[in-house]
Amino acid sequence: MSADSPRSQSCTCIAPINIAVIKYWGKSDEDQIIPLNDSISLTLDTDYMYTKTTATISTELTKDSIILNNEEASGDGVRFQNCLSEIRKLAASSKHASTVEKSKLKVAIVSQNNFPTKAGLASSASGYACLVFTLAQLFELESHKSELSALARRGSGSACRSLSGGFVQWFHESQPCVARPIAEAEHWPQLRCLVAVVSNTSKAVGSTEGMSRSVKTSKLLEYRIKHVVRDRVEEMKMAILQKDFVKFAELTMQDSNQFHAICLDTYPPLFYMNSTSQAIIQLVHRYNEIRQNIKVAYTFDAGPNAVLFMEEAELNRFASVFHAFFGSIPHESFFRGKIPDPVDSTKDVE
Ligand code: DP6
Repeated sequence: MSADSPRSQSCTCIAPINIAVIKYWGKSDEDQIIPLNDSISLTLDTDYMYTKTTATISTELTKDSIILNNEEASGDGVRFQNCLSEIRKLAASSKHASTVEKSKLKVAIVSQNNFPTKAGLASSASGYACLVFTLAQLFELESHKSELSALARRGSGSACRSLSGGFVQWFHESQPCVARPIAEAEHWPQLRCLVAVVSNTSKAVGSTEGMSRSVKTSKLLEYRIKHVVRDRVEEMKMAILQKDFVKFAELTMQDSNQFHAICLDTYPPLFYMNSTSQAIIQLVHRYNEIRQNIKVAYTFDAGPNAVLFMEEAELNRFASVFHAFFGSIPHESFFRGKIPDPVDSTKDVE
């Protein structure tokens, strides 16, 4: 560091989770994290579910470290190091001397989710998006969002979609492989999302291992990639652009169901949903039947927790029916799709 540089700097940011309505499941390149298909997601706002990360660089630090939800993270070490080394490469090639200097320092990361980690609620998505965004702020990188999206992808595939707000598509054939917005959240302000936390426990088989097993063993996944998902992505994009809730809901539910069918077709099979998840699916279909139209949609990631979409006009009615059946009202996460902004930034602290 030069004489007038600070000895220690910190930056704190938050990043939201995103929920896929066309799922990513399966990689063509496991090291680079290149998906087999495009996926589409909605970035939720940061009122309820987010990751908050503080990154500190200091001349005093002797090694890089990461503390995730009060525990030293060990299992994710390689991906963390991949992200970090990609960011350092960018910083080292900066035209600003201070950024180059910072890239040489060790980093301490402290990251906290305010929702169940590894329970199929996109914790790695917000986690790595937040990590990359925070480091980019700290190093004062002048990177474009899409550049950061590619960096977050190296941490966890779905994380590349959390760098943008609103409706986002991750392109499997783009070079570099990144996610870009389809539409701002304000495009469809009536759309709402409820998150029903069915279980707080970590999944038995993580997404990385689960999808690798599906790629090796599931004929249904092969069929999906060849014959289903390309058209479905286009239909979903159209439904979003036209704010066609019925089509959006139908595709969302069908894609969630196909994903979980692939999990069952995987050998040995993957069970992510439980009997409560299935009861929620039945409730939604019965509710739509009684309302004589598709008013609510469900989707489940690699876990039993439900994400429910509906338009604002339906929110209270559905929430009270849900409460009558399950005795609780799901977390309401108003879908506004804010992009992750730094909430606090403490710089030049010695
Ligand atoms: C079911 O992004 O967690 O949530 O890239 O191996 O880290 P890795 O997997 P991850 O997988 C998410 C899968 C999903 C569907 C989705 O978000 O599209």
